[in-house]
Amino acid sequence: MARKVAVVTGGNKGIGYAVVKELCQKFNGDVILAARDEARGKDAVEQLKALNLNPVYHQLDIDDTSSISQLKDFLHKEYGGLDILVNNAAIAYKMASTTPDAEQAENSINTNFFGTLNVCKALFPILRPHARVVNVSSSAGRLSNIPNKELQKKFLVSNLTEEELCGLMKEFVSDAKAGLKREKGWAHTNYMMSKIGVSALTFLQQREFDKDSREDLVVNAVHPGYVNTDMTSGKGVRTIEEGAEPIVYAALLPPNIKSPKGEYIWEDSKVVSWV
Ligand SMILES: NC(=O)c1ccc[n+]([C@@H]2O[C@H](COP(=O)([O-])OP(=O)(O)OC[C@H]3O[C@@H](n4cnc5c(N)ncnc54)[C@H](OP(=O)(O)O)[C@@H]3O)[C@@H](O)[C@H]2O)c1
Repeated sequence: MARKVAVVTGGNKGIGYAVVKELCQKFNGDVILAARDEARGKDAVEQLKALNLNPVYHQLDIDDTSSISQLKDFLHKEYGGLDILVNNAAIAYKMASTTPDAEQAENSINTNFFGTLNVCKALFPILRPHARVVNVSSSAGRLSNIPNKELQKKFLVSNLTEEELCGLMKEFVSDAKAGLKREKGWAHTNYMMSKIGVSALTFLQQREFDKDSREDLVVNAVHPGYVNTDMTSGKGVRTIEEGAEPIVYAALLPPNIKSPKGEYIWEDSKVVSWV
């Protein structure tokens, strides 16, 4: 039997680092600490080795399709598949950022939504039966953060396709560039829109998994809580280990579980309504 393997994107710090740490202790297989920067990634691996844990570093920039495809080739060659994928890597601009809003909108959607989607498109074909995928979303990724009810409905279409969802994300960026975000009633921040996209993506991915010939593929979106990391400038109230808890829970769901499956999971590991 091939050795099992888990991948955590953005594993070099914050919540991703804590997820790698926890999986190294609980998952019966190798854990790949994927990071875009080699020095930061290898440094994180060394920190975990000092705790007698043994993650494997691999480079991954989710903005770079060639980097994604190199990770896929590595997984395919070394493991012949993939058992757990935690899509954790993301960016969030600070309130004080002087980057023009249109640029922030484009970069936030490109990394958090399209980067995550590109990782999924590359790695889903090598998922093994019983694989678990966790898309790290946020409370910001709740549909109710979109004030315009007509826009909300577009995300709620029961058979929404990936193409249609990508179209909505592009429409948002285009409205941001035209200065029409408020007028059109999109969510108030670019980060919110990127995470609403990640949540909606999760639900349609599960519908595809349900039709897949491979048995028991499960994907969930998780809100880790307000966590003390660089992203929250140290203001979060939960530790990174607490933030990792619901993510690791979703990553290690037992075989043939009926629920949570294609759900939105809160920081206490309970399923909540996305709407
Ligand atoms: N902290 C919270 O309160 C909170 C709440 C809700 C949801 N979340 C979500 O939880 C996840 C982790 O957040 P965090 O708070 O741990 O943030 P963080 O400390 O800022 O860590 C983000 C990680 O993502 C990586 N990353 C960013 N862009 C990347 C790219 N293009 N390719 C590969 N890696 C990239 C970063 O790498 P570098 O070190 O190289 O920059 C870093 O490893 C994110 O999805 C975030 O949206 C966080």
